[in-house]
Amino acid sequence: VLSSSAGECIVEGSDVLIYIDRRRRWVVRVHRGGSTGSDYGVIEHEHVIGKEFGSAIRLKLGRRAFLLPPLLIDYLERGFKRRTQVIYPKDIGLIVVLLGIGPGSRVLEAGIGSGFATAVIANIVRPNGKVYAYEVRPEFAEVAMENLRRVGLDKYVEVKIKDVKEVEEQNLDAALLDMPNPWEALDAVHRALKPGAPVVFFLPTVNQVIKMVEALRNHGGFVDVRCFETMMREYQVVPEAVRPESFMVGHTGYILFARKVLYERESC
Ligand SMILES: C[S@@+](CC[C@H](N)C(=O)[O-])C[C@H]1O[C@@H](n2cnc3c(N)ncnc32)[C@H](O)[C@@H]1O
Repeated sequence: VLSSSAGECIVEGSDVLIYIDRRRRWVVRVHRGGSTGSDYGVIEHEHVIGKEFGSAIRLKLGRRAFLLPPLLIDYLERGFKRRTQVIYPKDIGLIVVLLGIGPGSRVLEAGIGSGFATAVIANIVRPNGKVYAYEVRPEFAEVAMENLRRVGLDKYVEVKIKDVKEVEEQNLDAALLDMPNPWEALDAVHRALKPGAPVVFFLPTVNQVIKMVEALRNHGGFVDVRCFETMMREYQVVPEAVRPESFMVGHTGYILFARKVLYERESC
């Protein structure tokens, strides 16, 4: 679903990134009779179906709309439903590197929220890995699974409508907790992870970071505690005026990393 092969044609029901320029781009599922509006003219899906991915159609006012196969980032930015705060690409990129995951990894996640982080992780752990996603609000889980189904990644995710404190899996390779009170779930995360495995807590406020760092120290079963903040500045790439964009995202959250160790009494 997340790639196209050479010469692949757009059919009824295909997802297409209709791209005019940086601001005018939409991920749409094309169907006969459907249309997408723009200030350069309406794009009738009728004219899109049958075209090759990568080709363009000419709009009424002369501009071209390119028909591209959507990447996962296009869904994150323009395609997925959003019902909660979500983890942004700039943060999830670092998070997945810190978690050290790859194809086959088994990952704990809480909560699933709108499924944005889940989609990126599922895309990395497939085809043999799995995300075990705990979520207390069924209505959020439903939206997240709808988003995951749209990109064909739902089969790599097992969603559980449960508090993560009740985690059932063991020997997991990594964990990501993006929820308001993760310090309450520290015992559960420790129980679920393999010895040495990493966990990332995504925390919107400094207050939560302080509370979490204290909880990790009091717990005693985690080491290598590190905290990061990412800032991403996009550039305007007009050839005669390459410069940073005027506005950027000021704050999302802090990335707090730690690794599970065995308690003294558990060592062999
Ligand atoms: C900010 S959202 C997660 C967003 C998600 N990372 C994304 O990128 O779409 C936080 C979620 O954690 C869930 N949550 C809160 N406490 C929880 C708990 N104890 N166990 C599982 N999920 C929990 C909330 O219902 C909410 O959906």
